[in-house]
Amino acid sequence: MAATETQAGAGAGAGAIAPATAEPALEPFPSASEGGSASESRPAARAGPHGQASGKEAASAELRIRQGADGSFSLWSATFGEGFHSRRGALREARDTFLAPSQLERLRPGQRLTVVEVCVGTGTNLAVLLEGCAALGLALEWWGLELDPAPLELALAQPAFRGQWQPQTVAALEELSREGSWQHPMSGGRMLWGDARQTLPQLLEQRQSQVDLVWQDAFSPQHCPQLWTVEVLGSLAELLADGGRWISYCSAAAVREGLRLAHLNVVALSAPGDSRLGLPDSVFGPAAEGVEEAADLDEKVAPVVRADRVERADALDRADRGVKAHGGLEPGPLAPQRRAWSGGTLASRAALAPSGLWRELSAMEQEHLASSAGVPYRDPSGTAEAAAIHACRREAQAASLARGTRTPSSAWRRRWGL
Ligand SMILES: C[S@@+](CC[C@H](N)C(=O)[O-])C[C@H]1O[C@@H](n2cnc3c(N)ncnc32)[C@H](O)[C@@H]1O
Repeated sequence: MAATETQAGAGAGAGAIAPATAEPALEPFPSASEGGSASESRPAARAGPHGQASGKEAASAELRIRQGADGSFSLWSATFGEGFHSRRGALREARDTFLAPSQLERLRPGQRLTVVEVCVGTGTNLAVLLEGCAALGLALEWWGLELDPAPLELALAQPAFRGQWQPQTVAALEELSREGSWQHPMSGGRMLWGDARQTLPQLLEQRQSQVDLVWQDAFSPQHCPQLWTVEVLGSLAELLADGGRWISYCSAAAVREGLRLAHLNVVALSAPGDSRLGLPDSVFGPAAEGVEEAADLDEKVAPVVRADRVERADALDRADRGVKAHGGLEPGPLAPQRRAWSGGTLASRAALAPSGLWRELSAMEQEHLASSAGVPYRDPSGTAEAAAIHACRREAQAASLARGTRTPSSAWRRRWGL
């Protein structure tokens, strides 16, 4: 049963969860014959992210081990040209960006939480979720959408990664990697291996309007637009229960516009560096050359802005682009001058009560959505490659500028002094 939010707790800064109905331990997942996925077992070999054949060895060769500023284990994907986590560190990102705004403390011990993770990778977010649920006595039903088994295998082979977690967490991750699912007394999960665009419909059949949390941690829209399209975001929105939340590190205007088109209420997560999150600004950056230029057509998240202009713009924004896209772990020379304007995005069916963890979109962000940067990614076939999705979006941007229905994002930047 999905946790349901009421408005009763609005004054407390977070929606309250309806009284727990003393949910029992999780039922086992349906078998393949009962509608379960045929892809629940780990694929021995499958098409790679760009359509090439790639088995475990080929995939692993594309992955390099990295360590974040918090010392936690992470990976870099040569195939996508992007790190798996922000330079703050995988653990910190999982806790601050995904776990904190999920507000698990809204639930009562014994209550069941249904979570869908889009892009499981190393399993860091899942491990943090498992331990968060265990600490609160929550029953977890989890679904993962992931193309490649190699990141989880690689992580589990590293003592440094295993050492980050409690033994029962490692056991669940091992079962998931080996069997494609795990079933423990208070938690159960299943991986739907394959391109999330193809596995999402199976999940929708089983869990439409029942999901409490969708955590989307795909590579950036610039490198992986396939998973940020109006079609994918629309399907993820359909999974959400009434009080459900979609959460991501991504603040791209195109993604926020896609979420709005899916009739979700969109707010900005408070930026890293916000004192509430306890993150030092000094871990920000580096700001890549050309980020602002590239932002016109490829908003990975939001363009980097100089800190001295942040106040003028009435925003805390920064580009996560420099974080995930460049994935290096050393702050660049401009790092201290740059700040985030948003720590990501949270979307929900119902408006959320005010919280220090998120805020309404600022006037600057609203205008950003209305600019050419807000033209969403589209992939009606569900099979298009990244280059085709980008090309299609560029055409849509040009058409909207020609019609005058959107303003150039360069004008938006000038207006806000970015
Ligand atoms: C940024 S990483 C995820 C990081 C992860 N949350 C973690 O904690 O390690 C992105 C993941 O997306 C996966 N991926 C890429 N394209 C995909 C697709 N079309 N469908 C499903 N997964 C995909 C990659 O294999 C990679 O593991």
